[in-house]
Amino acid sequence: MKIIAGNWKMNYTSAQGAQLISRLKNVETTDTVIVCVPFTSLAACVLAAEGSKIRVGAQNIHWAESGAFTGEVSAEMIKETGAVYAIVGHSERRQFFGETDQTVLKRALAAIKNDIIPIVCIGETLEERERGETKLVLSRQIREGFKDISAEMMKRVIVAYEPVWAIGTGRTATSADANETIGYARGVFAELFGNGAAANLPILYGGSVNEKNARELFSMKEIDGGLVGGASLDATKFIEIINSAKI
Ligand code: PGA
Repeated sequence: MKIIAGNWKMNYTSAQGAQLISRLKNVETTDTVIVCVPFTSLAACVLAAEGSKIRVGAQNIHWAESGAFTGEVSAEMIKETGAVYAIVGHSERRQFFGETDQTVLKRALAAIKNDIIPIVCIGETLEERERGETKLVLSRQIREGFKDISAEMMKRVIVAYEPVWAIGTGRTATSADANETIGYARGVFAELFGNGAAANLPILYGGSVNEKNARELFSMKEIDGGLVGGASLDATKFIEIINSAKI
């Protein structure tokens, strides 16, 4: 079974989001379909998705239960809307909002403890790739960003490998490359949590996934699905991507 997650980023009001979900609603699939929407759209999207296969997630989550954290949203607040997933550590959060492996860990832990499944993003920048540091960076992000997470907790985690240079650029990693890198990441997870936990861990590929390249990416052994940005904003394209996951 594959997992296809859309990341709407800062797009669509709640009315527009609900409209998009109503177009996705009748998609027939046995795979898991998630849409991660702006906080303000969570409740409306959950309502719009009722009775369908579509599950709704947030794009971030704070680690504290409550308090003086202006602009942040707690797990309880997210849960109240009916959302059951949250993206954690997206590269845009790391790049533009100072997210670190340490804050990623705290956010992931808060999600797991509150029955929200975190979709934890890892991935190297173009400079890191060109310096030949892809594996080094992934290893660090995994070792630091999953430090206090137990093998038991890993059963409620999704990981997304998103090379930063492929996000929103139209430049996708080749399927062979993505497969190899995800295989490497899975090896690091195996070292930390054991072979069984690593084998069962869903690791998605993200970065310019579209209706044309999805089938090939999803056919790769190590790739358990996709985290889709731009192409998830268009119902027709996103449905095609969901359908590409079918065996
Ligand atoms: P993209 O974004 O599909 O538009 O490249 C992916 C992501 O940032 O999750």
